Amino acid sequence: MVVMTGSPDSFLLIQQADVLLPDGHIQQTDVQVQGGKITAIGTADATHADRIIDGQGLTLLPGVIDPQVHFREPGLEHKEDLGTATRACARGGVTSFLEMPNTKPTTASQAQLTAKLALAAQKALVNYGFFIGATGHNLDELQQAHPSPGIKIFMGSMQGELLVDEETILDAIFAQGDRLIAVHAEDQARIRERRQRFAGQTDPAIHSQIQDNQAALLATQLALRLSRKYQRRLHILHLSTAEEAELLRQDKPPWVTAEVTPQHLLLNTDAYAQIGTLAQMNPPLRSHHDNEVLWQALLDGVIDFIATDHAPHTLAEKAKGYPDSPSGMPGVETSLALMLTQAHQGRCSLQQVVQWMSTAVAQAYSIADKGRIQTGYDADLVLVDLNTKTPVLREALQTKCGWSPYEGWVLTGWPVVTLVGGQVVYDHGQFDLSVRGQALQFQS
Ligand code: DOR
Repeated sequence: MVVMTGSPDSFLLIQQADVLLPDGHIQQTDVQVQGGKITAIGTADATHADRIIDGQGLTLLPGVIDPQVHFREPGLEHKEDLGTATRACARGGVTSFLEMPNTKPTTASQAQLTAKLALAAQKALVNYGFFIGATGHNLDELQQAHPSPGIKIFMGSMQGELLVDEETILDAIFAQGDRLIAVHAEDQARIRERRQRFAGQTDPAIHSQIQDNQAALLATQLALRLSRKYQRRLHILHLSTAEEAELLRQDKPPWVTAEVTPQHLLLNTDAYAQIGTLAQMNPPLRSHHDNEVLWQALLDGVIDFIATDHAPHTLAEKAKGYPDSPSGMPGVETSLALMLTQAHQGRCSLQQVVQWMSTAVAQAYSIADKGRIQTGYDADLVLVDLNTKTPVLREALQTKCGWSPYEGWVLTGWPVVTLVGGQVVYDHGQFDLSVRGQALQFQS
């Protein structure tokens, strides 16, 4: 790993890449970058450039904004830390992330949020934002914590103070304030009851039956009911079932958004036979039919964008066997290449991938000046190679957990160069570990 040098104020020129413009057109041209911003798009004089990046044969896209990740720091650094996680981001073309509060300690107060922001300022190679977690007894903190993309509620699938599964407490959270509420929607009472029913079973495939489609649907219905009652901005995290997608298709209030993960689009319960507990996550993988309905909902705009729910656990933890194995799989390093491979195969367009993984996320979370290649916008950019096919290899992974559910999958669209705030953080397999991202600001 080579450390490269660069200054945020140097004049950088990306020459003759195929540039995805905001109107969806792709044009072979130059992009100038200075002071962290895109300063001009169009054929440029290279005489005064401090650095030239040859973009010929490559495609320039806005950097990915991943709005749901678990980066494990503080407290769970044996699985991942902000250094390894953001190296994985840089390699995967992810230039900004929104992280969840289930660290140790949790992120449930201003002091804990401030501490996490300070850690990220020291260590994160890409831009960062942190959700404030609802505990049921931190209502005032939930309203005031700043800067934060919103409130995270685990309605189910969680232990400890971050589990909020009582309707009266949920109602109180929805009633107070107006900032975005993001829900992990699974019904804890149903999960509890089904855990008892299936007790003693050790096939990981049982996970999808214990935390079944109905468990997800019940919680999503409750969140939608509360959101309607108070007209409260609601975001439904990792939608996983056909039933939830159909519910939203029929009646989705304009103040509600939803996301889906690549794994709920591309993997299903068949994966248990192949990779065992590595396929175990919450909400669980579903059927091929659910994959198809979620894809259609995404293509039709019922689902607004994509998040990875990057949730690394060590191989030793996963080897404990079901039900002692923890739920979650890594994702930031492979998400863009996975989706660009889908575009290559004709399942969607390149433009849709960028809309789902960058533009729409910036809009939904009111993050200014990101998600487009446009003069004046932040120079968070990724040059991808749409012509070469390379497999997902364990030895190339940067995530500390050291595995991927997609090992062996042959993908096209891998990032070649990634820029964060105008600085080259990743270049043909090498990282500049001196680059630091910035704290994201949320306008509403
Ligand atoms: O599978 C999951 N793992 N889903 C979550 O919501 C949490 C995550 C984790 O933190 O491991």
